[in-house]
Amino acid sequence: MSSTQDIILLGPPGAGKGTQASRLASRLGVPHISTGDLFRQNLREQTPVGLMAKGFMDRGLLVPDEVVCDMVRDRLELEDASSGSLLDGFPRTIPQAQALEGMLRRLGRRVDRVLFFDAQDATLVERIAGRLTCSACSAAFHTTFAPPKVAGVCDKCGKAGLAVRSDDAEAAVRARLAEYRSKTQPLLAHYTEAGCLRVINAEQAIATVESALATALAAN
Ligand code: AP5
Repeated sequence: MSSTQDIILLGPPGAGKGTQASRLASRLGVPHISTGDLFRQNLREQTPVGLMAKGFMDRGLLVPDEVVCDMVRDRLELEDASSGSLLDGFPRTIPQAQALEGMLRRLGRRVDRVLFFDAQDATLVERIAGRLTCSACSAAFHTTFAPPKVAGVCDKCGKAGLAVRSDDAEAAVRARLAEYRSKTQPLLAHYTEAGCLRVINAEQAIATVESALATALAAN
């Protein structure tokens, strides 16, 4: 697969974007850039950005556009993103999409594909309710659908410390879904108009979604 691509994974919370992203990114030869993971990493390191973002994340609200865009701009300038990126959870608002278009234009690039993870609310709630996240590397597991090989231990980094994310509490999930509907869903029309949106049935099993993503990327 060509590595000169900038691809966006778009979809509601819990749809399975992060689960697919790291394997897809290595197949594409581009870095997996998850804004949620970048905020969680900043928080672990107690940076000003992380501490500021926490107040929004814990309430299920989007972090202000300027903060997210500055963070992504810096990340896209790193050497490993010189020939493309897999953006997971960014953009999430129309102003973020416009800012991304500017960032890529300056690099002589554009958004190649937007893969929309389509799933029903009941599926999202079931997936979030059973999610366990590694507090060291942010890898996600599920008590039923994707359990770790050893209980409580991350398959990816080997650290013990799988836990429920603080923003997976019921009130925060309700707020995240509301934020998604009011601020992120308008991106569907934006990218449909741009001709780069592909809809993925994210209700399917993890391996089936992985194949659907490969098919969507291979098609014109
Ligand atoms: P972020 O971390 O991006 O969260 P999110 O978009 O809400 O997405 P999730 O991580 O909840 O879900 P996912 O789709 O990755 O699903 P996963 O693969 O884990 O953002 C968190 C917060 O950061 C935001 O609320 C906001 O405050 C802030 N933020 C981040 N980006 C921002 C931005 N651009 N602008 C402003 N603020 C921003 O899967 C879920 C579960 O389901 C797992 O347990 C998994 O094992 C399981 N699963 C996955 N796929 C399947 C399947 N096919 N079948 C069965 N189970 C599955």
